[in-house]
Amino acid sequence: MKEPKRYLVTSALPYANGPQHFGHLAGAYIPADIYVRYLRMMGEDVLFICGSDEHGAAITIQAKKEGITPQTIIDKYHPLNKECFRKIGISFDIYHRTSEKLHHETSSTYFKTLYDKGVFVEKESEQLFDEKFQQFLADRYIKGTCPKCGNEEAYGDQCEKCGSDLSPTDLINPVSTLSGETPILKKTKHWYLPMDKYEGVIREWIDKAQASEKWKKHVLGQCLSWLDQGLHARSMTRDLDWGVKVPLEDADGKVLYVWLDAPIGYISATKALIPDNWETYWKDEDTKLVHFIGKDNIVFHCIIFPILLMAHGDYILPVNVPANQFMNLEGNKMSTSRNYAVWLYEYLEEFPGQEDVLRYALTTNMPENKDSDFSWKDFQARNNNELVGIFGNLVNRVVVLTHKYFGGTIPEIPVEAEKAVLEHAEEVYEAMQAFPHELDAYIHRYEFRNALNEVINLARAGNKFLTDTEPWKLFKVDPDKTAKVLSISLELIARLAVYCSPFLPFTSERLKKMLLLDEPAEKAILAGSFRVQAGYQIGEKGLLFNKMDDAVIQPQIDRLESIQQALQAAKAGATSKEESASDSPTYEPLKPEITFDDFSKLDIRTGTITAAAKMKKANKLLQLTVDLGFEERTVVSGIAEHYAPEDIIGQQVLLLANLAPRKLRGVESQGMILMASGDQSLHFVAPVDKIDNGKVIS
Ligand code: MF3
Ligand code: ZN
Repeated sequence: MKEPKRYLVTSALPYANGPQHFGHLAGAYIPADIYVRYLRMMGEDVLFICGSDEHGAAITIQAKKEGITPQTIIDKYHPLNKECFRKIGISFDIYHRTSEKLHHETSSTYFKTLYDKGVFVEKESEQLFDEKFQQFLADRYIKGTCPKCGNEEAYGDQCEKCGSDLSPTDLINPVSTLSGETPILKKTKHWYLPMDKYEGVIREWIDKAQASEKWKKHVLGQCLSWLDQGLHARSMTRDLDWGVKVPLEDADGKVLYVWLDAPIGYISATKALIPDNWETYWKDEDTKLVHFIGKDNIVFHCIIFPILLMAHGDYILPVNVPANQFMNLEGNKMSTSRNYAVWLYEYLEEFPGQEDVLRYALTTNMPENKDSDFSWKDFQARNNNELVGIFGNLVNRVVVLTHKYFGGTIPEIPVEAEKAVLEHAEEVYEAMQAFPHELDAYIHRYEFRNALNEVINLARAGNKFLTDTEPWKLFKVDPDKTAKVLSISLELIARLAVYCSPFLPFTSERLKKMLLLDEPAEKAILAGSFRVQAGYQIGEKGLLFNKMDDAVIQPQIDRLESIQQALQAAKAGATSKEESASDSPTYEPLKPEITFDDFSKLDIRTGTITAAAKMKKANKLLQLTVDLGFEERTVVSGIAEHYAPEDIIGQQVLLLANLAPRKLRGVESQGMILMASGDQSLHFVAPVDKIDNGKVIS
């Protein structure tokens, strides 16, 4: 797109069913905040939208787990998350919630508009139903085996292992997550979004989007893999009593699908923020819409929501969806359900005043293109070596020396001294000049790790300048030159103070204060025209960052290790139980004793299967022809689930040949093939060596 007039930036609305952890932050919130803060700093018109996602099974299931109502759940977590985001400096313009009346109205009207346009297909079908809980089972209410990859923990809407899009009825061995029981099928009516019809336009749109701005490889890859598998109609309504009511006459007890209502939450939040002007941000082609999300939300933001936006017709589509991958923790997958995570609220309590350290460590490790790993040792090293060792050290030396030698005010510098120092300052000026352009390019490519690295590199350049010029030695022989060295260094750290603000907003504020940078100074810095001249005064010195020692870090490592150990132990316990179960298979009890005469009444013969065919309308039965040498028999056998007809032709078997004939599905079965049965399997029983047919077993 051509230069946008304004930006609309969203971060995924987190479910208000639990606290936020580092993975969430690094995935969708820190990157968006860096982007937005940068744009604001450059004077762009930008809105940053977020809020709580308060509907869907995520909420109702959590409520049930905690034994409280969904309302209590969201009223607990919405304020908690909102406050944590604020404390870590995520600068949303609004943190709305989907339980607000305005949102219910907005999403309900949106649905009705699509309904009136005839977008939805109304369909009655059989859906899984939990008889015990008297509830239809969709999405997270149903678990089973993924038909595509065999993952036994797939949900009714999606397999998290292979990323496949599923319907509850696709699952093999579906089980209700409410009762743990196998559901029955029951008729119900729903409104479907025929996504298949939009396959072409979505492809075109994604294709075209690339022309103005490349999407991340993994995002594009996921989209194309979905499209290649073919899009399917997806129900936009659910049989639930928690959510936005379906605004139709015949829809009692039905609510909007959470993935319809939640992204519309971006729209209602914008409405709540600027009731009179929200449409400019959502409907004017000059708005650049960017969604920041984690990779598990890609299809919803790149396919389903865009279809809903297209189907409506009045709305713009996102220009980019720079989704992040996942962040691991000390080499293991973060998991809310297993409590293996570092919670933001805990960090804020345990590391007061260290907000930027976390922002820094999460950004340098951001899973921009592949999964990454957070470790406390790395966190400590980043703080000690980079924030303290490079950034803090530079600022500290410059500020301390300026106070020590010049009482905090840059004196008049004779031209000669100025010139002499400038001759050796080429490198540092080059670094200062190139810096904003490189930063800008990285930010606009959503490469925040590289962008932050530029900031640290500028500090490195400052340190090198000090090492080269050695003002602490120079002062004794040439105070004038020293003053120039410090004024150049101050120019550099003033740039750092401003340009670090998207990443380290708290540090930026402290540093600006330390350098007494006012608004005009800040403007000059951004314009590249800022110079430190005689009379320039700085404020009190102070430490920007503090070293963290092992005593602070070790308890964190220990805590995670003990959680891992407990998880491992639980897992080992579970498998050893499984193993001991399979070590001692169950045996059927012996049957009552018989006499030899009883046995000799059985006429068992060797025979060979010469023909086999599936029987109509009988999944378990095969119709076989067995050659007994002296005659052929037709036998109906219940082995169709274990053997394919073509595989058993020529198989020698034992046939109970004097069993009274019996009609099965209209076919007379003349005998019974002997089988050995395991728990799940059936095996033919036959002579060890192939012998003639018709021989008697005795
Ligand atoms: N609540 C969802 C999740 O945590 C994200 C919703 S994003 C929105 O995965 F687009 F639907 F808002
Ligand atoms: Zn799967």
